[in-house]
Parts: sequence; C-alpha cells; structure tokens
Amino acid sequence: MSEQPTAAGRSSYDVIDTELFWKVLSVEPGMTVLDLACGAGRYTLPLAERVGPSGRVIAVDLWAEGIDRLKTEAGAAGVDNIEAHVVDAALELPIPPRGVDLCLLATTLHDFAADGTDRAVLTQIARVLHPQGILSVVEFIKKEGPPGPPKTVRLSLEQVTMRLLPFGLIRFGAVVELGPHAYFCQFRRLRKSNSA
Ligand SMILES: C[S@@+](CC[C@H](N)C(=O)[O-])C[C@H]1O[C@@H](n2cnc3c(N)ncnc32)[C@H](O)[C@@H]1O
Repeated sequence: MSEQPTAAGRSSYDVIDTELFWKVLSVEPGMTVLDLACGAGRYTLPLAERVGPSGRVIAVDLWAEGIDRLKTEAGAAGVDNIEAHVVDAALELPIPPRGVDLCLLATTLHDFAADGTDRAVLTQIARVLHPQGILSVVEFIKKEGPPGPPKTVRLSLEQVTMRLLPFGLIRFGAVVELGPHAYFCQFRRLRKSNSA
C-alpha cells in the first residue's frame, strides 16, 4: 500500500506557459506568499526570487520527501526566504490569521476535491488570507489528458468558482489559459459596502 499523499511527486510547472504565468500572477517584492501543496517546490523557488529578501514564501505539503528536496535545493542555492513545512493542509496551517498576501494553489484543488478535503483546506486558506489577499488557482482544463488527471477529476472554472463562493472568495480579473493544458484564475474577498 502506498503511503504517498495524492499526486505526490507530480508538478504542473513543466506543462504550463511559465512566462505567461509569471506575467499574470500578482506577486510583488515584500509579499508573504503561501505555496499550498508545493510538492518539491517547482513554483516555490521562483516565487522566492520574486518576493525578494523583504518577502517570504511559506511552502507546505504533506509529502515529506518533497519538502526535504525543496529545503536541500533552497539551501544549495543560498535562498533563505522560504519556510517549508510538512503539513496536512486540511488540518491547521502553521500561519497566523490574515498572515498571507497571496496564496497559490497550483493544480491541487482538484486533488482536495477528489479526497473530500477541499472544504477543510479552503477553511484554512480563508483563515490565513489577509483581507486584501489574493488566492491564485491553476487548474487543468477540463478535458481528457495527458498530462493531468482524468477529465472526471478535473475542475472547470465554474466548479472552482462555486467551491470558493461559500468562503467569501470571489473571482476577479481575467481567466488566462496557460497553454493547452491549464488555466489560471484569481479570487479575493467580497468587499462589504459601507452604504449597506
Ligand atoms: C499535483 S501535486 C502539485 C504540486 C505543486 N503544486 C506543483 O504543481 O508543482 C499535488 C500535491 O498535493 C500534495 N497534497 C495532497 N494532499 C495534501 C494535504 N492534505 N496537505 C498538503 N499537501 C497535500 C501532494 O503531496 C502533492 O505534492
């Protein structure tokens, strides 16, 4: 029996248009970014470069070997603005409330939905996201692969949007296809009107 978490060892980084991804991701120097279900950190290391020395990346995954690889690679490259933790994201994240400016969920929400842990994970994201924070989602386009999981497991834009709505997270900005396999969308909190 495998002890590995769902999709451990898989990354979407090599199948997306990374140039376009970095253009549309709202990452800025000084931000605190959460790379949730970071795997071995394919997105984490370039995120760390973009937030710079005044920012940090908190990278979490249940896959201990992936977190070890990320720590080794970051250490070898002299990158010291990454905090990497072996964590079950469906339980409590080691982050204070409102502590995250940007959360990246790169091709992982469908795994949580398939496991039935998506609501627990999204509860944690809603807790740690700053009121003006952004949740960025990369998902496989809902069609048969490869690459990616079977079509039945994939989440359409509407399915992603409906999953985030109960957490007060509303889609904004353009939906961008990152090449033929994946799409990108962003969410932020519904702003309460002062006149209400
Ligand atoms: C498809 S991989 C994506 C990895 C990374 N985002 C990337 O694309 O490079 C999904 C990741 O979710 C992680 N995972 C699955 N269940 C988890 C959980 N409950 N808590 C944290 N990570 C989990 C797996 O270990 C795996 O690394």
